[in-house]
Amino acid sequence: MAAGKGTRLKSQHPKVLHKIGGKALLEHVIGTAAQVVAPSDIFVIVGHEAERVTHSVRDAGVNFVVQAEQRGTGHAIKSAQQALSGYDHVLVLSGDVPLIRPQTLERLRDFHLARGAAMAVLTALAPDPHGYGRVVRRQRNSDQIAAIVEQKMLKPGQEKIREINSGIYAFSAAALFGVIDQLTTNNPAGEYYLTDVAGLLTARNHAVLALEAAEPVEVLGVNSRAELARLDAALRSAKCNLLMASGVTIYQPETVVIDADVTVGQDTVIEPFVQLLGRTTVGRDCRIRSYSVLTNVELGDEVEIKPGCVITDSRAERGAVLGPFSHLRPGSNVGEGAHLGAFVETKKIRMGRGSKANHLTYLGDAEIGAGVNVGAGTITCNYDGSHKHTTVIEDHVFVGSDTTLVAPVTIGRGAYIGAASCITEDVPEDSLALGRARQTVKPGWVRERRAAAAKPKP
Ligand code: UD1
Ligand code: CA
Repeated sequence: MAAGKGTRLKSQHPKVLHKIGGKALLEHVIGTAAQVVAPSDIFVIVGHEAERVTHSVRDAGVNFVVQAEQRGTGHAIKSAQQALSGYDHVLVLSGDVPLIRPQTLERLRDFHLARGAAMAVLTALAPDPHGYGRVVRRQRNSDQIAAIVEQKMLKPGQEKIREINSGIYAFSAAALFGVIDQLTTNNPAGEYYLTDVAGLLTARNHAVLALEAAEPVEVLGVNSRAELARLDAALRSAKCNLLMASGVTIYQPETVVIDADVTVGQDTVIEPFVQLLGRTTVGRDCRIRSYSVLTNVELGDEVEIKPGCVITDSRAERGAVLGPFSHLRPGSNVGEGAHLGAFVETKKIRMGRGSKANHLTYLGDAEIGAGVNVGAGTITCNYDGSHKHTTVIEDHVFVGSDTTLVAPVTIGRGAYIGAASCITEDVPEDSLALGRARQTVKPGWVRERRAAAAKPKP
């Protein structure tokens, strides 16, 4: 179920597209469901901003059902009745309950089938049950459910029930669709509640059973921004724990933000306030220092990222040293043992083994060989106002400080460029290139001027 608007989030965007752990709520839910059943057996009920929601998970290989008007969870399932006509059993998941694990879904499915239930409800003992539907058991110590009562419909005394409905169920399709038309909108929200199916089935002597989740956090829902933040934190902390268990050192993990799909090699050290996002992969024995943000980055082994780097869609080979304060924009490829230092910005470059650009430099659209030294303040002038051009710097070139390289231009192997040169033409290998005005010195010029200024005016 992913058709709702998510009014309580107070957002312009559909609730199920809000992210935790760097991934949309709906992506989490579909990803989990797809580990239990084939994607072709998954039906996503969309409604509010259906097109956007559908588009966001278009690669998942799932089916979509449209609930044109959002008249409640019961109405959502009713909209899917026809699409589900070929199935004997249905697992229902909520698009805003993202931490559910595949093992738990399998447990619910197996429990439902083994017990021949008409409806099996995944429940949990929540520390704070407020806002959730409460599970009223027929008797204490019985797993038979009498009814599920929504927060707004609670009778005095039912407030205290701590067992909540997760919004995740297994149904016998025949039982579900046998009573679904009897749902009414007699409730404060004026909606068709799927939860009322529990009472309807129980009244017909069908087995409606509760299965408690082992970890309450798995079944928490996202209805507010505070809950979104809480679940995001839960996911991040689980990710850090997983990495630490696999041999990664993370200092102050509560400050570190690591997306679900990130991998980190053994003995890498991650300092406080680091963010590793998207499809980032980090090798072994790396050190990622504070305040660095890496998005879709590949790091070889023994790479050091000094504080304050921003690196996106880029790659650094074994032993490279980046930062502090380096900005690597998409397509930057830094070779083995190469260095990029303070306030160096790169975009779409290849830099060979052991090359260095240690200070205040912009390298864009550049092919840089091995053993190159790029002096402080070097700038590749890669853009002429309408097109981008390439700068080629071959192996073992020395680029003096404050050089501008006006692309397209090639600096041949082993060439040497004098400081403050503006290089507009290719430099052959092993040559010295100077592209600057010759210095003039006028001895005593200041002294003469001073004397002239001191002379009394006639
Ligand atoms: C629901 C349950 C509540 C349970 C809680 C668990 C009902 C009536 N209540 O409440 O017992 O404790 O989930 O998180 O079911 N949706 C649609 N179409 C609609 C309405 C909702 O697809 O017309 C989707 C929403 O996008 C969402 C899910 O169904 O993904 C749950 O809806 P929501 O309004 O969040 O239900 P809750 O009030 O949280
Ligand atoms: Ca909800």
